[in-house]
Amino acid sequence: MRKPIMAGNWKMNKTRDEALQFIYAVSNRLPKNEKLDSIICAPAIILRDLVKRQGDDLRIGAQNMHEKESGAYTGEISPVMLQSTGVEYVILGHSERRQYFNETDEAVNLKIHKALEFNLKPILCVGESLEQRESGITHTILENQIHKAFLNVKEEELNNIIIAYEPIWAIGTGKVASAEVADEACGYIRSLIRDLYSPKAADQIRILYGGSVSTKNVDELMAQPNIDGGLVGGASLNADSFIELCNAAVK
Ligand code: 13P
Repeated sequence: MRKPIMAGNWKMNKTRDEALQFIYAVSNRLPKNEKLDSIICAPAIILRDLVKRQGDDLRIGAQNMHEKESGAYTGEISPVMLQSTGVEYVILGHSERRQYFNETDEAVNLKIHKALEFNLKPILCVGESLEQRESGITHTILENQIHKAFLNVKEEELNNIIIAYEPIWAIGTGKVASAEVADEACGYIRSLIRDLYSPKAADQIRILYGGSVSTKNVDELMAQPNIDGGLVGGASLNADSFIELCNAAVK
């Protein structure tokens, strides 16, 4: 049995005060950590504040990271810096990073290796665009992203990596992938891990669905055999809605 995950990706939202209000509002109201990994991935500038106040049942993650430890990269955040805040997770390869900041599969692979080296658990995002889905190349896109992301990653490192399938056409659009479509893609990703590593690795790796997850569709998504949780944007910004999503994940 894979432990479920409910991860919020706040993207570029919330001031420090708003973030702290959220943390106080969810405190003691989330499912126990033995049952669920509840995670909030927040803007880098408030990570340390959140880590200090996170409580036993919430984990904190970053949304991006540079692949180098230090250097002349104005405006970037390094794995060493993230580690020093005490965060446990880092989202890597989000489609918004790939799309707006030209993040390549090669960079994502370097970031995965660096994150693991600094004890940060990557939440690796993959997913196809609407055009790619409509031209029938979803599997090819996913295969390419997964193969490149996992280059030289060892099987024993996989238990520290989470995959999130996020079809670009479903992100922030209110157009959630149907539970069947989401499960099929997550199942395909699992089969890629089986081929790259082993049946055991495929059985153990946790795969999330992301893209317009809400309190309305979470039950159906969570009921799917290949979906182990959600990576949630908009619906994770409100404390009550995030708590409801977390409770749905342990039903
Ligand atoms: P929405 O839940 O707002 O569609 O965002 C999904 C996402 O990109 C999470 O990383």
